[in-house]
Amino acid sequence: MLERTSASKTVKKVGEDVILKGWVDRRRDHGGVAFLDLRDRTGIVQVVCTPEQIDDLRDEYVVEIRGEVKERPENMVNPDLETGTVEVKVEKITVLSESKTLPFDIHGSGLKINEKKRLEYRYLDLRRLRLTKNLRFRSKAVQFIRNYLMERDFVEIETPILSKSTPEGARDFLVPSRLQPGEFYALPQSPQQYKQLLMVAGFERYFQIARCFRDEDLRADRQLEFTQLDLEMSFSTQEEILELTEDLFTNLVEELTDKKITKKPFPRLKYKEVMRKYGTDTPDLRKDKSDPNELAFCWVINFPLFEKSAEGDLSPSHHPFTAPREEDLNLLDSEPMKVRSYQHDLVLNGHEVGGGSIRITDPKIQTKIFEILGHTREEIEEKFGHLLKAFEYGVPPHGGIAPGIDRLVAILCGEETIREVMAFPVTSSGETAVMDAPSKVDKDQLRELGIKVVEDDND
Ligand code: AMO
Repeated sequence: MLERTSASKTVKKVGEDVILKGWVDRRRDHGGVAFLDLRDRTGIVQVVCTPEQIDDLRDEYVVEIRGEVKERPENMVNPDLETGTVEVKVEKITVLSESKTLPFDIHGSGLKINEKKRLEYRYLDLRRLRLTKNLRFRSKAVQFIRNYLMERDFVEIETPILSKSTPEGARDFLVPSRLQPGEFYALPQSPQQYKQLLMVAGFERYFQIARCFRDEDLRADRQLEFTQLDLEMSFSTQEEILELTEDLFTNLVEELTDKKITKKPFPRLKYKEVMRKYGTDTPDLRKDKSDPNELAFCWVINFPLFEKSAEGDLSPSHHPFTAPREEDLNLLDSEPMKVRSYQHDLVLNGHEVGGGSIRITDPKIQTKIFEILGHTREEIEEKFGHLLKAFEYGVPPHGGIAPGIDRLVAILCGEETIREVMAFPVTSSGETAVMDAPSKVDKDQLRELGIKVVEDDND
């Protein structure tokens, strides 16, 4: 029996009979002869038929085509098509599945189509070549990262999704527990505390392609759930973490894209200097902002440890596990706003694409930081007791970083928003693509969870 041939392989099968399977991308009736573009995961190939043979076909039908691959006459070669040197002379077309008329055109960028509609029919929107390419690139980038780190003795470890609040500066998503009524899990804003516990466990080099959840206002570069390359290393200096990350992304860009990195090594800018010079801690250092192929990475270091709110409360500039610089330790009590930290941010073309730090490993300093941040002894014990306890059992010095995969891939794909590199992003009001969550749930389900929904009086 003849095996299926993919569209892209037809160029190697001139003169042979083939079976193709895929979607009808377009049809063209030229009087005596008709053409059908057949699309599958590998691309498009032109099929030559009689007008009667395509009479019953519509765009996006799924079909099986038997025919012979022929070389196109030289003047008919289509240089824009990978399979442009051949066409398939049809013998038989079988419809495997019909399709209604699509709600929008899937050719072209799609950027002008109403986004809610695109997300409602995301499975059709994803047939669009631009999105197909983005997701394939994303998959390659993640595989590249995995291989790079595995070759350097990192171990990939999954950490819990049902977890306890980890402060990363956003609101938590909560999940009610059925087994402990009235109690809640929090979805992780990042695997921060777990990766630090893995350092206590002795893995020394950990990474994870980690899903993170943050209930914050949505923006072009923010989603409620997103993916980080989360990594942590023991016995490493900040310099070593920066060098590894820099080498990883330089190699990734050079092997997987045609883009050019403006400056290597990436410039290292001190927070004070960057604020003075650019007025932002995410400077865009491209020489020519209109050049779609330019990539200007830089590091920002020496951040202040704390930020001050309008009310005068201190909050961590990164998160409360970031270590203060030794030379500033004596200022912790007297002038906390002057204390600088071991935080490092990776910036690309004006966007923060990663953040990390060397961590506090001294339980006394960690407790002091929590106190400065306004936590009572009881709160510290209740929220972070597990970490402080772990640090009493031989904790190696450690630090790490978490580049955002969505942001990085969006920039490498030349996209304005991270939604264009995610398969099923949420809308700008936080509704999920296709499935339309959040949604109401059964009364029984709520009863089982011990939850009562209080109707808002203003409704
Ligand atoms: P941080 O909070 O700086 O650090 O996050 C790291 C990176 O994650 C990406 N990111 C997001 N991407 C899309 N949507 C969001 N809502 C979103 N929020 C953050 C950004 C950001 O630079 N645990 C620490 C890392 C560490 O210290 O090692 C952390 O999560 O690209």
